[in-house]
Amino acid sequence: MSATPRVTVPHSLDAPLPMTLPRLAEKKRLGEPIVMITAYDYPSAQVAEEAGVDVVLVGDSGAMTVLGYPSTVPVSTEEMLMLASAARRGCTTPLLVGDLPFGSYEASDEQAIATAQRFIKEAGCDAVKLERGGTSVQRARAIVDSGIPVMGHVGLTPQTATALGGYRAQGRTAERALAVARDALALEEAGCFSVVFEAIPAAVADLVVKRLEIPVIGIGAGAGTDGQVLVFHDLLGIYDGHAPRFAKRYQEIKAQMVAGIAQYAAEVRGAAFPDAEHSYSIDDEELERFRTGLEAIV
Ligand code: KIV
Repeated sequence: MSATPRVTVPHSLDAPLPMTLPRLAEKKRLGEPIVMITAYDYPSAQVAEEAGVDVVLVGDSGAMTVLGYPSTVPVSTEEMLMLASAARRGCTTPLLVGDLPFGSYEASDEQAIATAQRFIKEAGCDAVKLERGGTSVQRARAIVDSGIPVMGHVGLTPQTATALGGYRAQGRTAERALAVARDALALEEAGCFSVVFEAIPAAVADLVVKRLEIPVIGIGAGAGTDGQVLVFHDLLGIYDGHAPRFAKRYQEIKAQMVAGIAQYAAEVRGAAFPDAEHSYSIDDEELERFRTGLEAIV
């Protein structure tokens, strides 16, 4: 049997090429901004692909945006794998990164590798992401050594927000900024192919980006990072929980969804839906034969 993977989706010559780690690194080298967005299911991944993003992150933010948890902490590996599998079915071109949920990688290198392997084998992700420096650096190294690409995440790390004093910007003193820089440099040294900077001052991000060779994806880290990431539901106005300062809204989709469903409800209640356009017809003759046949049924 050939070791070449079976290609299930024929690739048209004018279709964009699937994103790879070398192409991401090349984008940084050329100064081409990298576009990343979260997605958590088939339609959101399809939308991300059609919009031409480079990287899709099945973020554990899905715990809040699609599963309704109050934070990212409670989401399980099984739940994340279900979201990631659905996103995988919705996109082929962007690099698909699965977020390792809280409690699924911290305990040991073995636990981290086993969880990362599930995201690759069961959900079809191309890479995984984990949060923090410290012990996560060793976990990242172990996963990379097992052959799985890893994206790091420093600054505001929501899985451990309580220990950071809440959902607040990080690196706002020289000491804290140095801690963020050390974490980022250590993650690069451990073999991460990219790192997310969340909620840190733009000037701090700019200085650290210059010290890193791997692409830095920012969210609330200013314009000097190699790329940006936003949460799908924040960007489109679907989620109306607390929106952080960096969450720019490009659409108000939830309002449109509510308006659409309210109109549907009003039309059902007012007997305006369904109308002839949305119903099936039958020939008069067939209907008459049916009527006769129905009357004969006792
Ligand atoms: O879970 C998530 O959506 C994230 C991004 C904010 C980077 O980690």
